[in-house]
Amino acid sequence: MKFQIIKHPLKGEIQIPGDKSISHRAVMFGALADGTTEITNFLQGADCLSTIDCFRKMGITIDNTPEQITVYGKGLDGLTAPNGELYTGNSGTTTRIISGILAPQSFTTVLNGDASIQKRPMKRIMDPLSQMGASIKSIKGNGCAPLEITGSPLKGIHYQSPVASAQVKSAILLAGLYAEGETSVTEPAISRNHTELMLQFFGAKVSSLGNTATVSPRPVLTGQKICVPGDISSAAYFIAAGLLVPGSEILIQNVGMNPTRDGIIKVAEAMGAKFMRLNETVSGEPTCDLLVSYSPLKGTVIEGDLIPTLIDELPVIAIMAAFAEGTTIIRDAAELKVKESNRIDVMVENLTAMGCDITGTDDGMIINGGKPLHGAVIDPHLDHRIAMSFAVASLLAEGETEIKDAECVNISYPNFYQDLKSLCR
Ligand code: S3P
Repeated sequence: MKFQIIKHPLKGEIQIPGDKSISHRAVMFGALADGTTEITNFLQGADCLSTIDCFRKMGITIDNTPEQITVYGKGLDGLTAPNGELYTGNSGTTTRIISGILAPQSFTTVLNGDASIQKRPMKRIMDPLSQMGASIKSIKGNGCAPLEITGSPLKGIHYQSPVASAQVKSAILLAGLYAEGETSVTEPAISRNHTELMLQFFGAKVSSLGNTATVSPRPVLTGQKICVPGDISSAAYFIAAGLLVPGSEILIQNVGMNPTRDGIIKVAEAMGAKFMRLNETVSGEPTCDLLVSYSPLKGTVIEGDLIPTLIDELPVIAIMAAFAEGTTIIRDAAELKVKESNRIDVMVENLTAMGCDITGTDDGMIINGGKPLHGAVIDPHLDHRIAMSFAVASLLAEGETEIKDAECVNISYPNFYQDLKSLCR
């Protein structure tokens, strides 16, 4: 797909799709609850459709209409053995979190995904689940999918996680619902807490203290109505475009502002961004309408506990840094190497192709921003967030930019290009 530099401001309102993390969890927890769960503003991206498909294969009826997803839950013990392997597509969230649900079942499952999933580390869930008594093996013996999970009785553990990962935390907490005794997870820094909030909403006993989350076993989960907030990770591309393209003003409606996810707002403000938060809601998953106005940006340092709160936004933050005056340093973000692509290498490769002064490091990037960039052929390595980040960069890069395999955005934002175009008129 080809893009040209834009010579006029971006103006208008945008309704971003539902949050990917919350959409996955609403289907999973709905399946494990008694009664019906009704989900509105569900993300109809390929990753969340993989989650629906997996639960359908385990005997859960799920209606998917444009207005609503309805999950007919069968309770904690209602899943049945799938006929054949469960295919999770490109979705790390489905693969890792579902493993925690499969480990205590009374049947065996084989879990597999696409070429990217087959390279992503699964030992991070295999280790703690095995400590709980799970029988989970990497079929090729390389610590990656395909995984074979033979249901076994589990015992609660206290797990000190070496990584701040909501997927790891969620897999353990969900296994903990079936374990004997309490289960808790302590993380080096707090990762997104959607599992804790939503499990509680469904009726589980969950507590959070500092970086530790604890669940009690065998709750009765009850079906709920869930309205999924807009995904701040999808809003990120319009935040960046609005800040970077001179004269722009974009109102992004219904953005999820959970404090474990809003690091991009904090970093953008540190870089000089101007936002207005309108119609703020505070209970459960907080939301607001976010008014983004063009703001000259300056470089900053992004590190430490902030990293998990903006991990998926770092590619587009790197684009912001490329157009900001001065140097931006991103560190403590080695997790970028094990996302849908190696996001350090892929950002360095493609930003360098546009003429940016960027160096990859072991755990991040150093970007000397402010130099004019030029169009280039971008290879996102089939990574949706890289493709969307470079669509934003193309608005400011002199000449033409071509993004290969541009349709990979379907993973999290099928209407992305149409929505971006609607602001460019
Ligand atoms: C997610 C957690 C994060 C994030 C991913 C979604 C989730 O991954 O990058 O896109 O929904 O739990 P990690 O748990 O690997 O940090």
